[in-house]
Amino acid sequence: MTTTPNQDLVRNALRSVNDPELHKDLVSLDMVRKIHIDGESVQVEIELTTPACPLKSQIEEDVRKAVEQIEGVSTVQVEFSAKVRSGPQPASKFLPGVKNVIAVGAGKGGVGKSTMALNLAVGLQQFGARVGLLDADVYGPSIPLMLGIEDLSPEANSEKRIVVPEAHGIQILSMGFFIEKDQPVIWRGPMLHGAIQQFLGQAIWGELDYLIIDLPPGTGDVALSLSQSISMAGGVVVTTPQEVSVIDVRKAIGMFRKLGIHVLGVIENMSGYVCTGCGHEEDIFGTGGGEDMAKTLDTSFLGKVPIDPSVRQGGDSGTPSLVSHPNSTSSVAIKKIVQIVAGQISQRSLLNADAPPVQINRR
Ligand SMILES: Nc1ncnc2c1ncn2[C@@H]1O[C@H](COP(=O)(O)OP(=O)(O)OP(=O)(O)O)[C@@H](O)[C@H]1O
Ligand SMILES: [Mg+2]
Repeated sequence: MTTTPNQDLVRNALRSVNDPELHKDLVSLDMVRKIHIDGESVQVEIELTTPACPLKSQIEEDVRKAVEQIEGVSTVQVEFSAKVRSGPQPASKFLPGVKNVIAVGAGKGGVGKSTMALNLAVGLQQFGARVGLLDADVYGPSIPLMLGIEDLSPEANSEKRIVVPEAHGIQILSMGFFIEKDQPVIWRGPMLHGAIQQFLGQAIWGELDYLIIDLPPGTGDVALSLSQSISMAGGVVVTTPQEVSVIDVRKAIGMFRKLGIHVLGVIENMSGYVCTGCGHEEDIFGTGGGEDMAKTLDTSFLGKVPIDPSVRQGGDSGTPSLVSHPNSTSSVAIKKIVQIVAGQISQRSLLNADAPPVQINRR
């Protein structure tokens, strides 16, 4: 006698499929959204924990194999949807609708921190996530320029709260919208803390899966103030491969750890140069410094992004290179990094969901 497939048989088969990153089965992780059976055909919908899931094709293959084992099944169709999860602690009273906050920092200036913060935001948005970008570089906000929106002045609602504007499908808030151009701003500790609290408290963000924060260079007061005001899912450190930059990375990682911010890993930017004419690769600042550093400092290496004129042009022209050159070597590298970061955040939110909230002693 032949058996016909049913919901229980399919669900049981899916209990044998682990999410390769979260190391638990799809049923326990509550990722099975729909099972539809039509004779010998089975259709399964899996809800990923991020639309930028790096292991989607592996999950698809594993689901297919497991369901095909069931007697009477001849075709298996796997569909995906995504719902980003957050840990048990809300990002803060300032950010009620924000699921995960990711800070991007560097020990020194000019390593491409703002470029990486912007491209992380654009990349996550391109995968289908709802994303915000907070330019917290009070000393030299550059995100408005990179998006060609320097002249934008955000509107206030009837309660005098700032309605966060949107560009390229990303919600953007920058200190640059509120300070006069070309005027050096000198902030001292308490004043800066007050300004950041006000900046956070007065803005109305929408529902966001990820909020990326571009920190000022160095290990200063802005990161301290933000870490006291909002809870962050993790920090990304940007470096260039030179030795001196690598020394600065130690400082940036040290800062995140001191503030109780989990270090997601290191991006090595400006790692080699790919000639746009002939495709020849040249090591200008060397490569691999960030990778060695990540190992030494016991954190993840998130990937390398080469020097690419389209990245700089993207920053100057107001159209990020992920949008203008989606298939360039640098864009492909950035998209991989985006997926690794999103995967790590999913892992963290699952870990956090299992653990009680942690009390952190700050200096
Ligand atoms: N991979 C890359 N290829 C080519 N140019 C790049 C790359 N990454 C960044 N740049 C360029 O390098 C310059 C510095 O980058 P960016 O402003 O992002 O650095 P930063 O670390 O945020 O600097 P600051 O410390 O001033 O905030 C910009 O002109 C940017 O377009
Ligand atoms: Mg910057």
